[in-house]
Amino acid sequence: MNTIRPIGIIGYGKYVPERILTNADMEKMVETNDEWIVSRTGIRERHIAAPEQATSDLAYEAAVQALKTAGMSAEDLELIIVATITPDTFFPSTACILQDKLGAKKAAAFDLSAACSGFVYGMATANGMLQTGMYNNALVIGADALSRITDYTDRNTCVLFGDGAGAVVLGEVSPGRGFLSFDLGAEGSGGSLLKLEAGGSRLPASEETIQDKKHYIYMNGREVFKFAVRVMGTATEEVLRKAGKGKEDIDLFVPHQANIRIIQSAMQRLDLPEEKCVINVDKYANTSAASIPLALVEAAEEGRMKEGDTILLVGFGGGLTWGASVLVW
Ligand code: ACO
Repeated sequence: MNTIRPIGIIGYGKYVPERILTNADMEKMVETNDEWIVSRTGIRERHIAAPEQATSDLAYEAAVQALKTAGMSAEDLELIIVATITPDTFFPSTACILQDKLGAKKAAAFDLSAACSGFVYGMATANGMLQTGMYNNALVIGADALSRITDYTDRNTCVLFGDGAGAVVLGEVSPGRGFLSFDLGAEGSGGSLLKLEAGGSRLPASEETIQDKKHYIYMNGREVFKFAVRVMGTATEEVLRKAGKGKEDIDLFVPHQANIRIIQSAMQRLDLPEEKCVINVDKYANTSAASIPLALVEAAEEGRMKEGDTILLVGFGGGLTWGASVLVW
């Protein structure tokens, strides 16, 4: 139980639902236009879950692929963490539903709620548990079906979100590889800037909460934008410092895909050229906890990282929260 060993990513997978909503489709739903959406956000289209698909179904597809690339079977899994703010149900957890679907009978399973930062929070949690020897492997998934909590009459939010899932299998890696550092943080005082008010123990769902649309995401976009630009910078600097690395050491930058302007401001601060940054917000929009793993897995599938590369992941989200990590691929 007391050994500290290097832990890294040994398998990865992703999934997005088939149905695509383009900006032209959004123009038919609310008063907006392609030019506004692209210039303010960088988003061109988003994938939307089918009516019969819940978050665990998206997570399952990504998980199966991640296990395959890890060369593992579900029965070998010891821990499952699902980061999500759109669980299938309050309980059982989405991780338990997924454990059953996968047949991962040996695995402990729980959900983690840190909105768009959830995947990095999940990897940090699993890394700690694996480093100490408590478990030997973990499946960490970021999965969200934000379309289920989006008000498609509110142009301020509905153009921004999409559905998807990304998964990694973590396990022991050779010395010098794997996670070098994490920086997690929260600013609960800003919680009301980005929230889903009704349906919890504070304000249980009722006819009135439905009428008032309190079962949908509320966001103060301008304030969240300012927070995002600030913490993307500070978290990046802090996680590099903890890893003993400088910005010149970054081979690939994998930011949360919420808004191209937020990503560009982080790149400027880091002095990073575009080819070192993964950007897919144009195709998937903001998929919350799935955003960073979707970007990471897509980059891996495209062969954008090689063994020994230094990767920096950073995201922010509801809570408010942020999470960053430096790892050697
Ligand atoms: N189409 C056309 N016009 C629009 C739209 C739209 N879809 N949405 C808003 N507008 C209008 C507004 O009504 C406003 O009009 P007004 O000036 O007459 O009031 C105008 O455009 C400008 O609005 P701003 O809010 O100033 O636009 P801004 O440039 O800030 O962009 C945006 C808004 C894209 C929401 C931006 O603030 C943003 O990206 N914020 C961060 C959001 C984010 O990253 N969230 C991540 C967390 S999500 C999670 O954790 C689940």
